[in-house]
Amino acid sequence: TAPVPVVAIDGPSASGKGTVAARVAEALGYHYLDSGSLYRLVALAAMRAGVPLDDEGRVAREAARLDVRFEGARVWLSGEDVTDLIREEICSVGASRVAALPAVRDALLDRQRDFRRAPGLVAEGRDIGSVIFPDASPKFFLTASVEVRAERRYKQLMEKGLPAKLESLSKDLAERDARDAARTVAPLKKLPDAVLLETSDSGVEEAVAFVLNEVGRAPG
Ligand code: CDP
Ligand code: CDP
Repeated sequence: TAPVPVVAIDGPSASGKGTVAARVAEALGYHYLDSGSLYRLVALAAMRAGVPLDDEGRVAREAARLDVRFEGARVWLSGEDVTDLIREEICSVGASRVAALPAVRDALLDRQRDFRRAPGLVAEGRDIGSVIFPDASPKFFLTASVEVRAERRYKQLMEKGLPAKLESLSKDLAERDARDAARTVAPLKKLPDAVLLETSDSGVEEAVAFVLNEVGRAPG
C-alpha cells in the first residue's frame, strides 16, 4: 500500500506556516501537525517543574512524559487548556532554547510521526522535510522579511490581548532565527527539494492557493 501522504511546510518564525498549514489541511481534509507547539509545551512543562532549560537530560524527560491533548485549535497540558499561554513570548523563547537540545528533539520524534494517519498530513515546523518526514512531498520553505514577520507576530499577539512590544519582538525573532539556523541538530534551512514561497508582499490566500496548486501537481 502507498504511504500516507505528508505535505511539509518549514520556515522561520511568523512566516505564516501555522496559518497556511491549517488552511491547507482543512482544504484537503488532512490531519495537521504544529510541531512548534510541542517545543513550546516542553518549555512550559519544564519551567513549571523547575527544570533549568539547559539541563538536557531533565528537559528530555519532561518531553518524553509530556501529557498533551490536541483538539481542534486547542491544546491541553496535563488537563489544563494552555492554548494561549504557550503563545506568550516566554514560551517562544523557552521553546527555542529546548529545541537546541538533541535529546529533546529525539524524545519528540515518535510523537510527531504518530500524526501521520490516513488520508494525509500537513505538518509544519523547522525540520519536517529534513528529519521528521524526509519522504514528504511536496515540501515548502515559507518565508518573509524579518520586519514583515515581526509585524505579523505583533498584530497576532495584540489581537489575542497578549502582551507584546514591536521592538523586543523583532529582536527576539531575529535571535531565534539565528539560533534555529546555527544549531547542529536539525538546523532551519531551505532544502534543495523544497519549493520556496516568499510572502513578504502577499497574503494568506495566495500562499494557500500556491500550496494547494503544488500539491495537486505532486507525483504520487
Ligand atoms: O510560531 P513560531 O514560528 O515563532 O514558533 P513555533 O513554530 O511555534 O516554534 C517555536 C520554537 O520551536 C522555534 O523557535 C524553534 O526553535 C523550535 N522548533 C523546532 O526547533 N523545530 C520544529 N519542527 C518546530 C519548532
Ligand atoms: O506559524 P508561523 O509562526 O510561521 O506563523 P503564523 O502564526 O501562521 O502567522 C503569523 C501571522 O501572519 C498570522 O496572523 C497570519 O494571518 C499572518 N500572515 C499574513 O499576514 N500573511 C501571510 N502571507 C501569511 C501569514
